[in-house]
Amino acid sequence: MKNSGPMKLIRDMKEMQKLAQSTHRQGRRIGFVPTMGALHQGHLSLMEHLRNKCDLLVVSIYVNPTQFAPGEDLEKYPRNLQEDLTKCEDAGVDVVFAPPDRQMYPPGFSTYVNVEKLTEVLCGASRPLHFRGVTTVVAKLFNIVQPDVTVFGQKDYQQAIVIKRMVADLNWETEILVAPIVREADGLAMSSRNRYLSSEERDSALMLFQALTRAYQKIKDGERSAEKLKQAMRQIITSSHQNRIDYISVVNGESLQEIENIKGDTLLAVAVYVGQTRLIDNLLITNHDLT
Ligand code: PAJ
Repeated sequence: MKNSGPMKLIRDMKEMQKLAQSTHRQGRRIGFVPTMGALHQGHLSLMEHLRNKCDLLVVSIYVNPTQFAPGEDLEKYPRNLQEDLTKCEDAGVDVVFAPPDRQMYPPGFSTYVNVEKLTEVLCGASRPLHFRGVTTVVAKLFNIVQPDVTVFGQKDYQQAIVIKRMVADLNWETEILVAPIVREADGLAMSSRNRYLSSEERDSALMLFQALTRAYQKIKDGERSAEKLKQAMRQIITSSHQNRIDYISVVNGESLQEIENIKGDTLLAVAVYVGQTRLIDNLLITNHDLT
C-alpha cells in the first residue's frame, strides 16, 4: 500500500537514510527513480512504472557534477525544482530527495566506483569519466535511499547495463528495471537537453529516430549486415549540415561489443551533436524482430 499524505522534500542525507531504515523495519518496500531533474514525460513514466511495485516511492533530483566533463553543460543544465516538485506530487511520489553538493561531495571526497569494459565503448569512448561519475553517484544514492527496486530508462541503455553490472558485482539487493523510451509525437526521444535546441535544430534532431526507424525497417526486410545498416543511418543523419556524428553503432545488447551481423538481442545506438547539443537514441532488436 502506498503512503498517503503530502509528498515530502528531503534535503538531508541522514534524514533520508533514517526514513529508509524505518520504512524497511515496517516491512515496506522502497521504489527509487534517480534523476537530474528538469523532469519530462520520460521521467514521469518511470515513476508510473514503480508506483504499484513499492510502498514508498522515492525520486532523487540531483545534477551530479562528477558525470560532467569540463566544457560540458553542467552550469547550464536546466534546474527548476519547484516545477519538478509539482510534477512529482502529481505523479504520486512520496519523497523527493534533493541533496546539496556539499553533502554528496564533501571536501576530501576521494572514492569512486568504476565499472570496466562496458564503460569503454559507445558513450564511454567520447565521455571517458562520465560513467565513473554515474556509478559513483548511483552507488551513493543506493546507500542513502536503500531501494528494493530501482528503475532506469532505456533511453540511456548503456547506463542501465552498466548499473546492472555494478549491482551484480557489488552484491546489492536492489532489483533493476528498465522502462521503454518515451518519445514526442513525431518520434524524438524526450530529453532534458532537447530544450537547448533551436527550432531548426529540433528538425535535424528528428533524424536520429528516423535513422533508427529506417534501420529497423531494413532489418524487417531481411538486412543483417551491421555495416549496411550503419551506412543507411549515417546517410539520413548527415543529410542535415547541423548534425555531427559521435557514433553510429550496432552492438550486442549485453556485451555492447560491435557485431558484424545481426543476431539475437542487438542494440542500434546513435549519438549525434545537433549544433552544440549532444543527443542519443537507440533501438533494441530482439529475436522476435528477426523472424
Ligand atoms: P536523467 O538524465 O535525469 O535521467 C533519469 C532517468 O530517466 C534515467 O534512467 C533515464 O534513462 C530516464 N529517461 C530519460 N529520458 C527518458 C525517456 N525519453 N524515456 C524514458 N526514460 C527516460 O540518467 C540520469 O539522469 C543520471 O545519469 C542519473 C542516473 C540520475 C545519475 O546522475
